[in-house]
Amino acid sequence: MKVGSWNEWDPLRHVVVGRADGTMVQAPEPAVVRDWPEHGFPRGTYGPLPEEMTAAANEQLDSFARVLEARGIRVDRPRPLDFGRPVATPEWTQRSMFGAMPVRDVLVVIGNELLEATMSFRSRWFEYLAHRPLIEDYFRADPDMRWEAAPKPRLTGASYRPGFWEEFGALPAGEQIARVRAGDLVLTEAEPLFDAADIARCGKDLFVQRSLATNAAGIRWLRHHLPEHRVHGVTFGTTHPLHIDATWVPLRPGLVLHCAERPAEEELLRYLAVNDWQVVPAAAPGRREPPPLSACSRWLSMNLLVLDPRTVCVEASETAQMEQLDRLGFEVVPVPFWDVAPFGGGLHCATLDVHREGVLEDYFPRRSGRF
Ligand code: ARG
Repeated sequence: MKVGSWNEWDPLRHVVVGRADGTMVQAPEPAVVRDWPEHGFPRGTYGPLPEEMTAAANEQLDSFARVLEARGIRVDRPRPLDFGRPVATPEWTQRSMFGAMPVRDVLVVIGNELLEATMSFRSRWFEYLAHRPLIEDYFRADPDMRWEAAPKPRLTGASYRPGFWEEFGALPAGEQIARVRAGDLVLTEAEPLFDAADIARCGKDLFVQRSLATNAAGIRWLRHHLPEHRVHGVTFGTTHPLHIDATWVPLRPGLVLHCAERPAEEELLRYLAVNDWQVVPAAAPGRREPPPLSACSRWLSMNLLVLDPRTVCVEASETAQMEQLDRLGFEVVPVPFWDVAPFGGGLHCATLDVHREGVLEDYFPRRSGRF
């Protein structure tokens, strides 16, 4: 038993796959607005996702786990909480939690360190508890594991820009994207905030997206916490930046899959170019829309899990994406997964790399611009 992983592609040995049980359309909170009147959850309402949807998602999660196990990868599963319960800190009360499907959002492994993210939604403040039984086991079993948690955030009103969603929603897309580039979104800089899924790991280089869940202070905290790494804050040209793994997906040394609808900064592209990395625009998604009650986009098509530098798991209906990876020289393992989307994402979101073989390497020896 070993906790250790430096990047998104080295041979995977041990992984956590999330569970759909008890997932909620979360109660209203400042960080996020849910408004799905045509599917029974108009703005301001909340409650568990329908049982049939939960069963369908769990079936796909379970069969994904079996696919991984059949390849000799150890799979662990979290222990869902009663996410319908209200939760509170001394400074606020939140009427429900969210779920334990997207493990990627909450935890990240960097080298022999397992790090718990701050999170920025009050509904997700306690989500780490669903993963603690596993983390405690790992800590007991691996004498070299470093177990860290970022400072627990306060998430008072001071962490959120008042009236953000109304104001932002009324802007034309161009102005929204300018706000994204400027990092002027729902989170203030009152305290460090980040979701683990805003981090893309490439050995010594960590690309961290400033987003609706990650602020500049969160990126600064990561930079100070990981002095052996180059922690790069990056933005993408999207009106809804949230988690880097349907936007900027490293596939193997020298190759990143990029959502061209959400352009990277020129300076980031130059950094990749001077280091002989190729940036490939992802194939168009197979569907027009994500399924009902999903907060994610159709670009979950590129939310894939690399098993080793020659093998990749891709959602089974995304034929264009599978063909593109095939042309790039990968063996593609198709995994049906769209029923999981309403529970918080795709194959990458649903997983946490506990152990990948390999060592820390510097894949970007040349400096360029601010990178
Ligand atoms: N926000 C992304 C999109 O809708 C989905 C990424 C979800 N990732 C995750 N780790 N939960 O395109």
